[in-house]
Amino acid sequence: MPQPAITGTGVFTPVETITNDELVVAFNAYAEAFNAQHADAIVAGEMAAMAPSSSQFIENASGIEQRYVMNKSGVLDPAVMHPHLPQRSNDEPGIMAEMATQACALALAQAGCEAGDIDLVICAASNHERPYPAIAIEIQQLLGAGGFAFDMNVACSSATFGIQAAADMVRAGSAKRALVVSPEICSGHLEWRDRDCHFIFGDVCTAVVIEAADQAKGAHFVIHSTRCATQFSNNIRNNNGFLRRTRPDGMEDARDMLFVQEGRKVFKEVLPLVSTHIAAHLEDEGVRAEQLKRLWLHQANKTMNDFIGRKVMGRVPEPEEQPNILQDYANTSSAGSIIAFSKYSDDLAPGDTGLICSFGAGYSVGSVLVERA
Ligand code: COA
Repeated sequence: MPQPAITGTGVFTPVETITNDELVVAFNAYAEAFNAQHADAIVAGEMAAMAPSSSQFIENASGIEQRYVMNKSGVLDPAVMHPHLPQRSNDEPGIMAEMATQACALALAQAGCEAGDIDLVICAASNHERPYPAIAIEIQQLLGAGGFAFDMNVACSSATFGIQAAADMVRAGSAKRALVVSPEICSGHLEWRDRDCHFIFGDVCTAVVIEAADQAKGAHFVIHSTRCATQFSNNIRNNNGFLRRTRPDGMEDARDMLFVQEGRKVFKEVLPLVSTHIAAHLEDEGVRAEQLKRLWLHQANKTMNDFIGRKVMGRVPEPEEQPNILQDYANTSSAGSIIAFSKYSDDLAPGDTGLICSFGAGYSVGSVLVERA
């Protein structure tokens, strides 16, 4: 059976950034306007006043310093508070497919192959801009790839679950060379008017080429094994969906039509889930913690990653052993651990072992054990 390997990665990073300070100025202006508009109800005790946000809180609570976004002006306009992305005709490439082709081009260049060599495209992301035709099929067509393509969604674990699917297909022979691409426009599903979460997400697109190790044209990472796990939870949820208009008031601007989470509960429940998952994966593969040269974790919260790193390594990892990118990108859902892998893996020596691990809504956890070849 062919041994699957990651032979190329690519990251498309949007041009615009929003710092915490910029975000907080916009949010506080929105909150002030909201409070002025509802002053009577607030005084009468019928409505709670909106509290201001703070950059210090955001950095202390999350480790996030800024985020990249596909559109800054809409998000920072207190009268809008969401990205403005122009409507495109059916004859134009969709925005997700457009981001994806850029990340895929970088990944293909690193792998030293052409789009025509690809026979599987998986668009693995938390949100897809339409139900069908699949974004992955549009990406396949824009790239000029062959074979087949499909979309999948396991929220923050979409990319690692996609890597498992592609690696298994390369092993089984149903695909020769795959692209797992994760265009994440998280700014579209974020409620920028809610101070509990308005700082959490950013936009990005990652792409990963997976093929048989003996086909690799340059340095690569052999995929030793993958492990995926899920456990149902309502603590991270988005109720938007195709049955929306069938419900009373279904088309209203309702809070649960965007990302909602119980952040504290997520913190408490996901940490043990992930630590146990990684420990079991490593044990089953006979890898001891001291053999692990790098941990590329999901990028949601610095304290969370510090905790998981300590648990897995049995000590405080050196910063280079567990690289974070969330200070610059914020939480980019499934793309986070792949950005960390893409940016911080070149320096590993042949024989070095590392683990990519994502976690999030579902709950879902996905880990990929790799060795530098
Ligand atoms: N500015 C100032 N204060 C804020 C604030 C803001 N933007 N947002 C919340 N606060 C306040 C809260 O109202 C609360 O006040 P209270 O103690 O008077 O009630 C206090 O700060 C603490 O809020 P809390 O929500 O408990 O903060 P936290 O330390 O849990 O941090 C998260 C919030 C979201 C950063 C954290 O819970 C987290 O990262 N959770 C896991 C997230 C995750 O991985 N999600 C996966 C998504 S895919």
